[in-house]
Amino acid sequence: MKIITNGKIFFKNQFIEEDIFIEKDRILGIGHTQKHDLRMATEIIDAKGLLVLPGLIDVHVHLRDPGQTYKEDFTSGTRAALAGGITTVMDMPNNTKPTVTLDRLEEKEEWAAEKALCDVRFHFGCTNNNFNEIKQANPNSLKLYMFKTTQAQDLCITDEKIIEKHMLNFNKKIVVHAEDNDVEKVCSIAQKCKRKIHLAHTPTRKQIDITKRTGNTNEVAPHHLFLSTKDQEQLGKLSGVHPHLRTEEERKDLWNKLDDIDCIATDHAPHTLEEKRAGAAGFPGLETSLSLMLDAYNKRLMNINWIAGRMSENPAKIFNLPHIGRIESGYYANLAFIDLKKEWVVKGNELETKCKWSPFEGKLLKGKNVRTMYKGKLVYENGEFIDAY
Ligand code: NCD
Ligand code: ZN
Ligand code: ZN
Repeated sequence: MKIITNGKIFFKNQFIEEDIFIEKDRILGIGHTQKHDLRMATEIIDAKGLLVLPGLIDVHVHLRDPGQTYKEDFTSGTRAALAGGITTVMDMPNNTKPTVTLDRLEEKEEWAAEKALCDVRFHFGCTNNNFNEIKQANPNSLKLYMFKTTQAQDLCITDEKIIEKHMLNFNKKIVVHAEDNDVEKVCSIAQKCKRKIHLAHTPTRKQIDITKRTGNTNEVAPHHLFLSTKDQEQLGKLSGVHPHLRTEEERKDLWNKLDDIDCIATDHAPHTLEEKRAGAAGFPGLETSLSLMLDAYNKRLMNINWIAGRMSENPAKIFNLPHIGRIESGYYANLAFIDLKKEWVVKGNELETKCKWSPFEGKLLKGKNVRTMYKGKLVYENGEFIDAY
């Protein structure tokens, strides 16, 4: 048994000073360590001065594996996740050969089992006619593109009847990339079909409002909270992303809607600097997401409970992922250890992601994940990966 002691742990939506008992890959319980516990302990992990959060869950990443492993692969992408305190990622289907058949899904699962260092789940892509493939694969979630984003030309569906058929055929969560008027459109199709959908990377207050009014869920990407067209001057060609950055006014307005944001998801979408300069859209985000939020907490702009809920418990709830997203007995011992006072400067070439750049280059952030436990093992500590990592 392992014991984590002296930390402040996030439990039932508040921080409490209790110890966490861990057996193999699971949390055994939470409480005060007694003498007989100490005799049973094989390892005592001192979390003095640290907050302990459930390992974070990022429901929107592009790990590019297989097909574009020069941008990222299952190993580099999951190292980036673990460095950022994230222990579960949900990978998008817009690979060069999109994940729209059972064979492609199985191929990804096999590669991930071999190469990934944390928990990776897969969104399965919708096409105009892959209804049988979806039935065969029976995935946990679908991704539907109504927009011709990166590598999604063949995935893009605009015909309302086809969207409706996908919704009626599938009763688990469908994630939708919709922009502008399509957000309203897809939410009303969902209402008509009596389905709840999840809107990806909602960039504005208006879109958040639509998702809430129609009883659906949303995710917001850190770059829409922390960057605006004002930053385009400095970022130049690197500023391209779908949905595009909004004005400073719209960005600030998004902050008025924090309570209606269901979860934070990075939309980690790595491209090389050469590709960015040639117009590729997308930002890496796994290693900066939590720190940006903690920095905002340190500036009294956000509540720490809000951050923990939006980055762990809510994503698990939305996608119905059992035994992750909380510190509770029976749950996986996936944990992020946070030092709220730790300051660091974002430097692309020091990141784990293969793309080696960040739209937050040079930014000083206060608050960082300093240790990550995945399934009962400390795998990352102070910038280093432990053992086989
Ligand atoms: C994503 C990518 O590069 O795969 N790009 C982006 O700008 N967000 C695709 C997407 O999520 O739309
Ligand atoms: Zn998208
Ligand atoms: Zn994306």
